[in-house]
Amino acid sequence: MSLTRIHNFSISLDGFATGEPQTLESPFGHAGQRLHQWMIATRFWDEDGATGVDDAFAKRHSQGIGAEIMGANKFGPPGWQDDPVWKGWWGPNPPFHTPTFVLTHRPRPSIEMEGGTTFHFLEATPAAALETARAAADGLDVRIGGGATVVREFLAAGLVDHMHVVQVPILLGRGVRLWDGLEGLEADYNIEVVSSPSGVTHLTFMRSDR
Ligand SMILES: NC(=O)c1ccc[n+]([C@@H]2O[C@H](COP(=O)([O-])OP(=O)(O)OC[C@H]3O[C@@H](n4cnc5c(N)ncnc54)[C@H](OP(=O)(O)O)[C@@H]3O)[C@@H](O)[C@H]2O)c1
Repeated sequence: MSLTRIHNFSISLDGFATGEPQTLESPFGHAGQRLHQWMIATRFWDEDGATGVDDAFAKRHSQGIGAEIMGANKFGPPGWQDDPVWKGWWGPNPPFHTPTFVLTHRPRPSIEMEGGTTFHFLEATPAAALETARAAADGLDVRIGGGATVVREFLAAGLVDHMHVVQVPILLGRGVRLWDGLEGLEADYNIEVVSSPSGVTHLTFMRSDR
């Protein structure tokens, strides 16, 4: 059965998945790269990076995934919808290598990139977007790629089977929160926690009814 999965989703101790303001120069606002420093240090990210517990978690991101769904604010900085040539942050060969569905209230024609990534733009409910992505995923799993707003929407709709959250020991104080409005979410999941020597904590949520 095709699952809906989230991987490497990094939050501060106070629950923020990005800082502010999000800009072209600073996609994560005042958080900079601090939320993802743990991942940038792994072999998953960099061939000279470290193996170990962080790498073991990080590389699950790409395994068995046939499509991604992301939010408009992950795809580009505020206002990208006004730029007709914006094709995402990632250059000509984005790291997704699958159909990738961008949720936006201002959809545009699909963009085919190198390496198997095609960006499709959708205005849809989470359930309808998931149905579309699943049809494109060819029997594989669908990853919800973030940001926090979209992850929260899919969690609230009860659509997430597997979620890997990485708690980073920093306090951001402001930005976009992951957990707001999700009181009691833990009741639906079996949760495992692994502490890494790097200082981050890996939390894995697996839906208990699957
Ligand atoms: N911490 C992490 O691991 C992680 C992972 C990924 C991304 N990020 C960061 O998170 C930030 C983005 O997160 P975010 O919470 O601000 O925004 P987001 O979740 O990326 O996108 C939210 C936006 O997507 C559009 N949208 C959402 N649901 C929709 C629906 N059902 N139908 C149509 N459009 C819909 C809306 O944009 P419009 O109304 O403008 O179209 C909405 O404002 C970025 O800084 C990104 O780099 C962090």
